[in-house]
Amino acid sequence: MSKTWTTSGPELHLVLATSGSRRDALESALRSAIRDGRLAAGSRLPSTRALAADLGVARGTVVEAYGQLRAEGYLGARRGAGTWVAALRVDVPRPSRPAAPATRGVRFDFHPGQPDLSAFPRAAWTAALRRGLRTAPDASLGYGDPRGRPELREQLALYLARVRGAVADPERVVVCCGFRHGLSLVCRALQARGAKRVAIEQPCAPPHGAAAAAAGVRLVPLAVDERGARTDLLRRLRVQAAVLGPAHQYPLGVVLQPDRRAAAVEWARASGGVVVEDDYDAELRYDRQPVGALQALAPEHVAYGGTASKTLVPGLRLGWLLLPSELLDPILAFRAVEDVHVPATDQIAFAELLRSGAYERHVRRMRARYRARRDRLVGMLRERAPAVRPLGAAAGLRVLLDLPAHGPSASELCEHAATRSLLLYPVAGRNAVLVGYGALPEHDAAAGLHALCDLLAESY
Ligand SMILES: Cc1ncc(COP(=O)(O)O)c(C=O)c1O
Repeated sequence: MSKTWTTSGPELHLVLATSGSRRDALESALRSAIRDGRLAAGSRLPSTRALAADLGVARGTVVEAYGQLRAEGYLGARRGAGTWVAALRVDVPRPSRPAAPATRGVRFDFHPGQPDLSAFPRAAWTAALRRGLRTAPDASLGYGDPRGRPELREQLALYLARVRGAVADPERVVVCCGFRHGLSLVCRALQARGAKRVAIEQPCAPPHGAAAAAAGVRLVPLAVDERGARTDLLRRLRVQAAVLGPAHQYPLGVVLQPDRRAAAVEWARASGGVVVEDDYDAELRYDRQPVGALQALAPEHVAYGGTASKTLVPGLRLGWLLLPSELLDPILAFRAVEDVHVPATDQIAFAELLRSGAYERHVRRMRARYRARRDRLVGMLRERAPAVRPLGAAAGLRVLLDLPAHGPSASELCEHAATRSLLLYPVAGRNAVLVGYGALPEHDAAAGLHALCDLLAESY
């Protein structure tokens, strides 16, 4: 079946596959139209009613397809403003994209997910590697345990129990190549044991939606408000798992409130469901008491994921899972097939960094540094652009700036910023930008924040 419709935006020829469900066919037709650029960022989609009538399908089919694509980051929507194609190219950096062209001419890249790469503790890492390798047995350089090096799992379990309040047994720690890899392993294991529907926060980090969807589960959007994800709705959504960022939701920056934490745990216990906890930047907190890991409330129902991508650097591709016993074997079975691991030498170095206390010293130093930048940015905004509202600034490396209705829209602001060599990141479905103040190198941070505030003060 093939169908053409005319929208207020571009005319689009949609080819819907005849095999499979209507909804799958519509989703994949829209996905490919967005990916190959036929539907450009910002293009408006027809209303669900109009498209359903045009294609001759039930309106619910279109509603569900739009919801799924919103969860994956392809579409944005706002009540009263309709549905549009999200700025996918900015929000979902493609793995194959060479870094150079994207950053050419950019002086201040406020990447919301990147720490200050210039702060990587090179000397401490090298010293930890040297010390670790001196004492590591030859056997540590063999194929080894698919969960990762025992000395690293041991150190991670101690660290997670002490710093994050997790219930951490080294036997249940699996070292993986960053959180996204861990999420993919967990979702594949869940799918293999029969999970069909997985709730994911809406909005979420688009690569995470993509990683979960690639595991073959259906993503079900879970709304987020100022009190965190609507875990009170999980029961109704008929999902088998939910991906949550309880300590610092991405991108909104909210903290999951105690009743919502309790609701997530109650749902998991009552339904046998699994919460995948994304604990990516919990150590970088500034104004509030640390929020302990949700995993501690239900270790048999929470697959906890952590990463060194924020506290150290993402280039290490180093993360960890702390798993319910039921998921351990299925995940190890996947690992045996894909055979993707963190190199033993990096695991040995990281274990020694943790053991020696150098890791925590580094985290403390970075927390103070990022906090100073955050304070500076929030202070300058208050003074120079008070109509711009910062959200989620209590922790992490970024802040979400809600932009006032007067003045340029988020995408216009990003364009103006680019002419001044500033790279800002629009948020799909909201008139807001993400500002990763953590990503600037220390020597350029003050200048970058000034340049940003100059732009905001002139714009609003
Ligand atoms: C919400 C969120 N979780 C986790 C991560 C870390 O991912 P990874 O460990 O795969 O680098 C990021 C990185 O940007 C993130 O934004």
